[in-house]
Amino acid sequence: MKVFSGTSNKSLAEKIVVDLGTRLSGLEVFVFPDGEKRVRILDKVVDEDTVVVQSTSTPVDENYMQLFFIVDALKRGGAKSITAVVPYFGYQRQDHVFREGEDVSVKVIAEILDTVGLNRVIAVDLHSVKIREAFGIPSVELSALPIFAKVIKEKGWDKDSSVLVTPDMGGIRRIKILSELLDNMPFVTVEKNRDLATGAVSAKKFEGTIGKKAIIVDDMISSGGTIAVAADLLKKNGVEEIYVFATHAVFSEKAPKILQESGVNSVYVTDTVFVSEEKKFAKLKILSVSKLIATSLSS
Ligand code: R5P
Repeated sequence: MKVFSGTSNKSLAEKIVVDLGTRLSGLEVFVFPDGEKRVRILDKVVDEDTVVVQSTSTPVDENYMQLFFIVDALKRGGAKSITAVVPYFGYQRQDHVFREGEDVSVKVIAEILDTVGLNRVIAVDLHSVKIREAFGIPSVELSALPIFAKVIKEKGWDKDSSVLVTPDMGGIRRIKILSELLDNMPFVTVEKNRDLATGAVSAKKFEGTIGKKAIIVDDMISSGGTIAVAADLLKKNGVEEIYVFATHAVFSEKAPKILQESGVNSVYVTDTVFVSEEKKFAKLKILSVSKLIATSLSS
């Protein structure tokens, strides 16, 4: 198996190859003066099973174009199979038409990946069950929830002391799985509202009984608004300690500042998205999904 990495999350790709007991194969990304890019595979891939690791986080369009080009280069190089490991799958939130006249972005991306010659896609914690239906090729969804459950258990946070919180109704599937992994830890659901035109988030109430310690679980943190609003609501309802577990550190806009200044104690994310030094903050803790991905690739 030959593993290549795009430029979006090379540090995760490097960990994955260590876990696989191999090395990254050579890939060159050349940038023309006008900003266009060309990729070149530097290893022979004829009749090889190949893997390309590329998170499609910000800059999302650029990272997707690079992924399309790498898949095309592998195909032209005669690869036997091409698997894309896309730890964070960009555009997944637009998985259906929310308002008349909108596109279905994730379907467009899936169709392009099918067309360029990809054979299989591996992603981590997809936003909804609908997303895998967009693909015409086999897809695998891995989950960081067992990694989160392990940390929660190691901390000694159990169902008598803690309550899981999903910051919106869309997280119900996720919270139920984590609850089962934690000996049926109770959970509450925040009733979040998002203005579809402005993106502004608000929440006035939640369903369920809360205690003194809350563990908020989400698939991704983008602006940080969802977490900040949920944390405010929990604090107003007597919660003293709040821990956040979210798979994808999308961290757009002022998210690091908002999270650091929010009422939460710690924010656990994974390395599906590369977090630059400037975006790190004191409350942030990063867990790795490299073993999860390496295990899937070698099975
Ligand atoms: C929404 O349905 C997602 O699960 C996340 O809650 C959301 O994308 C987080 O976005 P933000 O950090 O911008 O509120």
